[in-house]
Amino acid sequence: MKLFEPFTIGNVTLPNRIVMSPMCMYSCENRDGKVTDWHRTHYASRAVGGTGLLILEASAVTEQGRISPQDLGIWSDGHIEGLRELVGLIRSHGSKAGIQIAHAGRKAELDGPIAAPSAIPFPGGKTPEEMTAAQISETVRAFADAAKRAKAAGFDVIEIHGAHGYLINEFLSPLSNHRTDEYGGSRQNRYRFLQEIINAVREQWDGPLFVRVSADEYDPNGNSIQDYAFFASLMKEQGVDLIDCSSGGVVPAKIDVYPGYQVSLADQIKNTAVIPTGAVGLITGGKQAEDILERGQADLIFIGRELLRDPYWPRTAARELGFEPAFAPKQYTRAW
Ligand code: FNR
Repeated sequence: MKLFEPFTIGNVTLPNRIVMSPMCMYSCENRDGKVTDWHRTHYASRAVGGTGLLILEASAVTEQGRISPQDLGIWSDGHIEGLRELVGLIRSHGSKAGIQIAHAGRKAELDGPIAAPSAIPFPGGKTPEEMTAAQISETVRAFADAAKRAKAAGFDVIEIHGAHGYLINEFLSPLSNHRTDEYGGSRQNRYRFLQEIINAVREQWDGPLFVRVSADEYDPNGNSIQDYAFFASLMKEQGVDLIDCSSGGVVPAKIDVYPGYQVSLADQIKNTAVIPTGAVGLITGGKQAEDILERGQADLIFIGRELLRDPYWPRTAARELGFEPAFAPKQYTRAW
């Protein structure tokens, strides 16, 4: 049963192939980006439920890079302690802990100025300021500092958020990046910002590194899956371990959504760039997840909303597959 086989990346072995997809909880208090009881309960529950790897929600690398004032943060050393405690809780139940490091760019819903590669608003949103070269290097530095803090907090995995129309995706996409300097224009130039972030993060972090991308921008003038296969091959050269394949979010689009609707993106990137991938999006059944792995379309299965509905989803999936899970907490398996 592939779903319940361990998966090793470098020096980290995930106990199974089930990953909790990063999901914002907007549950910080006092606009401080710090871990609260909600986070402790929410993440620990999924660890008890047998999820192999939990990737914490988009955590802002700068204060201005938050989607909302309630976002989790990793922009200061003051965030390390709460995150370290959360990592300890998750690991005490046998799961591995990851964190998604993020900057919202033009999609930040905050007071004050917002930043983006070009002064082009997300339709209906605030017009961002075009980032200067100095702001670009400060932001690259902020991702590296976040990686250093993630290491200090004891995380097993870092995922860079390059999807959903947030800052990195805004640089990658010709829809939101109209720059005329070395960060805009050709695919290689639009990739430069992410390239610098990966290199800077890699200086601080030698553990498993994932990047989430929107591998289809659903716009004839946007990046296509072929463009993302190209970016994935560059990321592979830079030592990225896995591409987490999501889609959309750069511009409003009508997306045809059905079970496993993004799996083909993970499949194409895995088999074109020859790099491990994660599949995500309306994967809700054990057999469905197992089939994706059996067919070699992806290496990890990311579960979002189904894990909100059912924190014990790994066991639900195991039952569906007729697999006796070996990961039930001892407190629940004692023979009375
Ligand atoms: C999300 N998603 C998301 N994605 C991401 O990369 N970073 C994030 O912080 C969030 N936040 C978030 C919050 C909530 C409440 C939801 C429902 C979703 C997207 C999520 O990780 C996943 O890709 C999608 O939900 C599709 O997978 P499912 O839910 O169909 O399994």
